[in-house]
Amino acid sequence: MKKITYSAVFEFHDNYRKFSTEELSLFDMAQNACLQAYAPYSQFQVGAAVLLQNGVMIPGNNQENAAYPSGLCAERVALFYASAIHPNVPVTALAITINYSNTIFDSVVAPCGACRQVAAEYEQKFNHNIRVYLLGRNEKVLVIPSVKTLLPLLFSGDVLKNFGSSSPTDAPASPG
Ligand code: THU
Repeated sequence: MKKITYSAVFEFHDNYRKFSTEELSLFDMAQNACLQAYAPYSQFQVGAAVLLQNGVMIPGNNQENAAYPSGLCAERVALFYASAIHPNVPVTALAITINYSNTIFDSVVAPCGACRQVAAEYEQKFNHNIRVYLLGRNEKVLVIPSVKTLLPLLFSGDVLKNFGSSSPTDAPASPG
């Protein structure tokens, strides 16, 4: 038996001094999107903003629905929209913030597993790390260097590609 250790380094900032103008406008976009989130059922508003390599920024916020599972998280709204309109431009950063009962969270909140999985897909697609900024109240920011550090042992499309390239004799028998 061999033990495998996983470790990651995150940066915690308690003010915005070290951030560039571009990063600050990304934060601003996420915070504005958060206030526009449609979250009548949970009252838990989430805002996201995606930065693309060409400098374009795309906002997203959670969209809830009376049929609860039909809603979508802020991060996926932003990532899917970015991919829909700029399918060939790498995603370089993702900022996320939360507003609950009219209070921007004091501490930062990390994205759900499904959003990590979706973000990881684009990270792999472009072979480019996506920096994740988790924004709390009073300029608190946790910086995560890539989505894969948030999702060790992630399920990757490479597995499916390998199946696709297997020889016909390896393929499962077709029905009938
Ligand atoms: N939510 C997000 O938008 N992002 C996450 O990463 C976690 C949860 C939303 C979904 C739902 O509208 C509300 O927050 C409560 O779960």
